[in-house]
Amino acid sequence: MEIAITSDHGGLELKNKIVEYYKNTYNIHDLGVFSNLSVDYPDVAKNLYENIIANNYDFSIAICGTGIGISIALNKFNGIRCALVYQKEVARLAKEHNNANVIALGGRFMSINLAISMIDEFINSKYDDRHEKRIDKIKKIEEEC
Ligand code: RB5
Repeated sequence: MEIAITSDHGGLELKNKIVEYYKNTYNIHDLGVFSNLSVDYPDVAKNLYENIIANNYDFSIAICGTGIGISIALNKFNGIRCALVYQKEVARLAKEHNNANVIALGGRFMSINLAISMIDEFINSKYDDRHEKRIDKIKKIEEEC
């Protein structure tokens, strides 16, 4: 499984722990940041988007302090369905209902154990295509904007 992961400085610590945890299980593509120097989450989001369109990731993980800024920024890009997840069941629904292709995490507000349980749940869940007409409506909005 090919997974991209990125963060701003607010998500750096959690990102590094996630990379360490999964590095022997999945192909984790760590797109940075690699230091805790302050950066702007829209730039991190843009870099992830450019990598997503150039590569064939199964899904991506994006982390900032709260998960809010990075998810807002990512959802501006065509084709991105970024879900800010904060509990295991929400991670499952992000796949089953929303077919999210990015999950956002709030690095300053969760433990590594919660992050791992949500990522595992997301990976082990399946998109339920009875929600396809809603995804299609999102695509239509993207075409119109
Ligand atoms: C950076 O300090 C912080 O604003 C950012 O990580 C994120 O929480 C924004 O939504």
